[in-house]
Amino acid sequence: MSSNVNMEKIVSLCKRRGFVFPSSEIYGGLASCWDYGPMGVELKRNIKDAWWRTMVQERDDVVGLETSIMMHPKVWEASGHIDSFTDPLVECKSCYLRWKATEIGNNKCPKCGGELTEPRMFNLMFKTFMGPVEDEADTIYLRPETAQGMFVNFENAVTISRKKLPLGIAQIGKSFRNEITPGNFIFRTREFEHMELEYFVKPDEDKHWFDYWVGERFNWYTNLGIRKENLRLRQHGKGELAHYAKDCYDVEYLFPMGWSELEGIANRGDYDLTQHTKFSGRDLSYYDNESGQRYIPYIIEPSAGVERSSLAFLIDAYQEEVVEGETRVVLRLHPSLAPIKIAVLPLSRNEKLTPLAKEIYKQLRPSFMTWYDDSQSIGRRYRRQDEIGTPFCVTVDFESLEDRQVTIRDRDSLAQIRVPIEELDKTLRAKLSGESFEASPLWATREK
Ligand code: GAP
Repeated sequence: MSSNVNMEKIVSLCKRRGFVFPSSEIYGGLASCWDYGPMGVELKRNIKDAWWRTMVQERDDVVGLETSIMMHPKVWEASGHIDSFTDPLVECKSCYLRWKATEIGNNKCPKCGGELTEPRMFNLMFKTFMGPVEDEADTIYLRPETAQGMFVNFENAVTISRKKLPLGIAQIGKSFRNEITPGNFIFRTREFEHMELEYFVKPDEDKHWFDYWVGERFNWYTNLGIRKENLRLRQHGKGELAHYAKDCYDVEYLFPMGWSELEGIANRGDYDLTQHTKFSGRDLSYYDNESGQRYIPYIIEPSAGVERSSLAFLIDAYQEEVVEGETRVVLRLHPSLAPIKIAVLPLSRNEKLTPLAKEIYKQLRPSFMTWYDDSQSIGRRYRRQDEIGTPFCVTVDFESLEDRQVTIRDRDSLAQIRVPIEELDKTLRAKLSGESFEASPLWATREK
């Protein structure tokens, strides 16, 4: 986290520049629900793409899956969510605010000091009814994790992939939790997107793969630009472990409200496949034809949230710096995460410049997420692009009409170079590639 960032600045930038808006804003908003604007959807898409590339595309031991949000209600009995996916809820007898008992740690209301009710267990799953009749028999749940969709498809994945263990199944999709205390902007919400990997391993290899995934996941964030000093690993204490977990590490990020979970990596042991075998009557054990053994695989699960990652990437990238006496806000996002890669900016909205600028815009669009902007002064347009983290601006000026060269302006160093239009694609591609960015001393040594 940069020293000069706080949550108010991030919320304001997100609203101002089209990353995140309050949901149903014209009706006064809906508590802790958010809509993602033109920049927000691109950032989320880039994070999901980066995750999928690392977790599926670049590996030969992981396959993807997309499962239904609504599942057979027995899934949630088997998984333990009906009995155990609960939080202790207390209510203030004076101001009626509700709190998660485990988060407040004393017996007086943190808001008004009032007396609290005895805790009662509150299930975090959203309930609804399938079909036209609102009958207990038709109760179903919105999934609180994508994981169960992968456990119940374990057999399908093994058969279809024709792969042996260790084998991973990856999924990105929406999850829902009726959180008692959502908040901190998009950090904790009732609807969010999960990026989950369920990695099925031989029981006696669980420790090895657990350690492996803890390391891999930590590095994923630093490879995408999060500063190492803002990340740490924290092992769960015994009393803190989820009902299914044997062991768990959180990757924590130093958010403005303090160190908080960014991602959890759990060793779920044989809990899930044992439970689904029991409840479905289907034998989910695995026959290992190398060892001739049959066993219930253990599961190692790295589980991350798209919105929480977006928040961490935004906070870590945010910087304010004084340039020529003026403060500029810049998002030094990794180029692969930046919503817009290139902005094409004619020096002014002059009729002589427009055709060439538009021609360049059309030339770049098929290869890069490109933005065209000719309104207001060039200085203001640069600042707008800095605030959304656009790595490069291409400026078309009157000289360009003569020499068919344009200026590339670098977001981080503010350096400008002139290149022939014919070489623009190649030059930008090289500049945007991870290697060239990571080698750049400026990006690597961003202000701490
Ligand atoms: N399947 C395991 C599982 O769901 P979790 O620790 O409850 O584990 C994993 O969630 C990640 O999902 C968290 O580290 C966080 O990034 C994200 N997440 C969980 N609850 C969230 C919420 N209410 N709002 C936003 N993100 C959430």
